[in-house]
Amino acid sequence: MGLLIRGGEIVTAESRSRGDIFIEDETVSRIGLDLDVPAGTDVINATGKLIFPGFIDPHVHIHLPFMATFAKDTHATASKAGLIGGTTTFIEMVCPSRNEDALDGYKAWKQKAEGNSACDYAFHMAVTRYDDKTEAQLREIVADGTASFKIFLSYKNFFGVTDEEMFNTLTLAARLGVITTAHCENAELVGQLQSLLLAAGKIGPEWHEPSRPEAVEAEGTSRFATFLEQTGATGYVVHLSCAPALRAAVEAKLRGVKLYVESVLPHFLLDKTYAERKGVEGMKHVMSPPLRDKRNLPILWSALQAGLIDTVGTDHCPFDTEQKLLGTAAFTQIPNGIPGIEDRVNLMYTYGVKRGGLDLHRFVDALSTRAAKLFGLFPRKGTIAVGSDADLVIYDTKYRGTISAATQHTNNDYNGFEGFAIEGRPSVVTVRGKVQVRDGEFVGEPGRGKMIRRKPHHGADVAEQQAVSHAS
Ligand code: URP
Ligand code: ZN
Ligand code: ZN
Repeated sequence: MGLLIRGGEIVTAESRSRGDIFIEDETVSRIGLDLDVPAGTDVINATGKLIFPGFIDPHVHIHLPFMATFAKDTHATASKAGLIGGTTTFIEMVCPSRNEDALDGYKAWKQKAEGNSACDYAFHMAVTRYDDKTEAQLREIVADGTASFKIFLSYKNFFGVTDEEMFNTLTLAARLGVITTAHCENAELVGQLQSLLLAAGKIGPEWHEPSRPEAVEAEGTSRFATFLEQTGATGYVVHLSCAPALRAAVEAKLRGVKLYVESVLPHFLLDKTYAERKGVEGMKHVMSPPLRDKRNLPILWSALQAGLIDTVGTDHCPFDTEQKLLGTAAFTQIPNGIPGIEDRVNLMYTYGVKRGGLDLHRFVDALSTRAAKLFGLFPRKGTIAVGSDADLVIYDTKYRGTISAATQHTNNDYNGFEGFAIEGRPSVVTVRGKVQVRDGEFVGEPGRGKMIRRKPHHGADVAEQQAVSHAS
């Protein structure tokens, strides 16, 4: 039996028009005005609502062993929280540590997700060491449908890679046509600055930002861009937080480096004064790169509007109050991360589109379409078109609410955006045509989500690309 969504205002990255959407067999089969549909079709009245393509969060951590603990969400909790907030696909970072086997890690992450996610998902494979086995393992992982890598220039001796390892990873990525995402901070400088601050008795969360200043991120961004340029690889800077790093990225884009930029929800709305709060209140707002001086926020918003920032993710990474307190004796021990998968769409809609003049189509592009295109999900995901997966967000722009840990679905005891007003939220969310959310509640199939397998498409050597496609 089909599903008809009647009378909404269909908004994609390019267009806006009123119409009906008819869904059969998990995909959109017809779009038009006053569609005739078979008897027995389920009908959702979307009159007065916007209909967006399902939103894609290109940067989340769910299973994450990190800083002597584990991020709090499971695939069940994070996917439901994401769906309630309008995210129908997330891309999770597979992050085995440097001491672990990459392929074992990949299998472990896949196993954690399988059957447990309520929305669709894909993975970025972190390369945290490059040795004799790495090339064969990465080829196997790419052939399995994970066509994007992740490297960390920070977190020395844990996730971090050396420049030589970055070079080898990017060289292979260029040959395979795989895009490489990167956390860009200079690990050596961070380590040295942390030691100096701690030696001076500066142990509180307010010292986290000074230990990773803007210049340190700008250097990482510029170095990553130089390595892309020399290897011919395509890259994507994750969670870019400040004007100097943006300048480095834009300079690289202008000289033709194939570089894309993501910024994440906290850096648009929160500044470093949140992490300067006393005790655990400050610790709740520790992430890397850190929350920055407030002069950066309008610069990020303008760059988003201009498309210089390509995508908006969350870097969703929940640690609860007790875990944050692991850093009581030293800010370097505070588990890094701020959750946001549930709130990204509503907050970016409210503070971007409603209150900040962010173009509605750029909003859809940055929170859905561009990630789909960059990461090989388009046009299955990231748009509303005949043949696309029926991942739809029927959005109620009249809804008014307030973000609060008391009402959230993310598995955490605080919310970094506590008290922020929202003007809009999804009233219905579908995943491949199945209604998963109604008015802030999960009402669907908990295990509906599937891993979406992707093919490399970033200008690989043709022979290499065919080899990968045939293997998958
Ligand atoms: O603070 C952060 N960003 N935590 C998650 C790990 C990472 O660097 O993305
Ligand atoms: Zn990171
Ligand atoms: Zn991250």
